[in-house]
Amino acid sequence: MDKDDSRVTFQDCRNVSYPIKPDRAYPSGTTIHVRPDVVADFTAMPFPDETFWHVVFDPPHIIRNAELGTVTKKYGCLNGDWKAMLAGGFRECFRVLKPNGTLIFKWCETQIPLKDILALTPEKPLYGHKGGQKSVTHWMAFLKQNKLL
Ligand SMILES: C[S@@+](CC[C@H](N)C(=O)[O-])C[C@H]1O[C@@H](n2cnc3c(N)ncnc32)[C@H](O)[C@@H]1O
Repeated sequence: MDKDDSRVTFQDCRNVSYPIKPDRAYPSGTTIHVRPDVVADFTAMPFPDETFWHVVFDPPHIIRNAELGTVTKKYGCLNGDWKAMLAGGFRECFRVLKPNGTLIFKWCETQIPLKDILALTPEKPLYGHKGGQKSVTHWMAFLKQNKLL
């Protein structure tokens, strides 16, 4: 909600600014900034095991070779072996979570069904918003198992 919230560590593989072609959503002169606190790949996060109580995984959901349009400039895109990439992202999210920690995952089903993405991790979501007939955006919560219990 607030990209400057000091409680949050924002990670992204890009640190870029893009001027955006004006349209109804973006007035002339708009620039999109992607300015993470940590520039890193979510398949190899620079954090020790069990660092965070809470992780949000919000990967790109559009398959494209390059960030050409406004949506892919803003949200990035999936290219190459994106299934291995998302599987690696899930693995890393669970590695950096503390036991009993929560992972919030967001997926937008415009191109790839949610079930195909959930097949990329052995973990099962606990609960979530499944979207509706017109809604393609899904949010769900996973709980990291505490193996000591
Ligand atoms: C849907 S956006 C996240 C938007 C963010 N939640 C926000 O509110 O600004 C997905 C982001 O994942 C980043 N990304 C794509 N592949 C990545 C990777 N392998 N490692 C880290 N970040 C990646 C993209 O650069 C893009 O900014």
